[in-house]
Amino acid sequence: MFSAALLTAAAIGAVSAQSSSFSEGVIATGTMGVTNPPEATLGTDVNQTSYARLISINDVDDWCIFAPPEAGVTIGDSEAYEVAWCTKARNNARVIPDGTITGVSLIKTDFYVQLMAYGDFTKLNLQQGDYGGELDPHGASGDGNPVGGNVTTNIATGDDLHFEEWMSFISYSQVCFRICTNANETWSSGVMCEHKLDEMGCEFVMPGNYNFNGTFESCEAEVAYPPGVYVTAIDGTSTGYSTFAQYYTGVYTADGQPVSYTVGTTVTPTAPQMTPSSSNCKTTATISNGLSLDGAAAATATSTDSGSSSSGMHL
Ligand SMILES: *[C@@H]1O[C@H](CO)[C@@H](O)[C@H](O)[C@H]1NC(C)=O
Ligand SMILES: *[C@@H]1O[C@H](CO)[C@@H](O)[C@H](O)[C@H]1NC(C)=O
Ligand SMILES: *[C@@H]1O[C@H](CO)[C@@H](O)[C@H](O)[C@H]1NC(C)=O
Ligand SMILES: *[C@@H]1O[C@H](CO)[C@@H](O)[C@H](O)[C@H]1NC(C)=O
Repeated sequence: MFSAALLTAAAIGAVSAQSSSFSEGVIATGTMGVTNPPEATLGTDVNQTSYARLISINDVDDWCIFAPPEAGVTIGDSEAYEVAWCTKARNNARVIPDGTITGVSLIKTDFYVQLMAYGDFTKLNLQQGDYGGELDPHGASGDGNPVGGNVTTNIATGDDLHFEEWMSFISYSQVCFRICTNANETWSSGVMCEHKLDEMGCEFVMPGNYNFNGTFESCEAEVAYPPGVYVTAIDGTSTGYSTFAQYYTGVYTADGQPVSYTVGTTVTPTAPQMTPSSSNCKTTATISNGLSLDGAAAATATSTDSGSSSSGMHL
């Protein structure tokens, strides 16, 4: 007979053996953000005023995204303090109300896990018509947008692992979220989750099948080229690449004088190098958590009224 302690030790050994088989920089090694539980946890209490920022993307009906904690702000203005909203009660985070999501395609590739979804994200405090913005673990302070945002997925190995590089685009009607779970000598996970093309949108930065509104599916897919990367030449065994840089201008000050600068190109490409196709899709009729969030939210709001604004929630 095995003792519980032996089984636990064996399980921990399996996790570290798996994480050590990842390339450098793929697995996150930092501490968790202060708003987050130490590990991804299913079945936590529902708290619709939570500030937790731990995203897990595991299955077509088990994932989280970042959205504003209160109404009345654009994604651009609230990117540093978005909070996690999950399809299930997990990670001490807020729960996405049933009826918000109208279609999901979750794809697993050799280099990343990618969530694509349509829905009415005004229910998660997005403003109607806000075409949104881009979130990633870098940000102005270097601590991420949102600050202290963290991600896990169990899709890579079956265990909840923390990954270093991810990116998310959200608007009032669409979201896409990629967690980069692999790297090789050609593509680092930072390149595969390149976060500087923040005006290009989901279809360009995270190409795939976006014709899934009304469908809830999980699929395998080919690996896309990293965002903005184009094949320039294939010469025998070697391939040349070029990388599109988003055009922007700015001004900095040198010796008290303003100096203007320009980065990138004025010619914006119309399409990515290729659009990967999905395969082996499994569909489910819909996703729901069945939680009565009105009651839960009202109870939480009254019991934790500390003067902070929770009046903007659309539940
Ligand atoms: C959590 O997020 C912070 C801020 O981006 C980062 O410094 C840290 O490495 C992350 N930790 C994990 C385990 O993901
Ligand atoms: C809900 O989350 C907020 C913000 O993180 C926290 O202050 C509050 O104590 C939580 N409420 C409950 C009931 O856990
Ligand atoms: C890295 O993976 C990509 C995508 O599968 C592939 O095209 C490339 O050849 C790989 N590089 C190496 C060095 O194996
Ligand atoms: C997705 O489908 C829903 C329900 O039919 C619709 O209201 C919504 O506008 C669609 N979203 C997009 C982005 O087309």
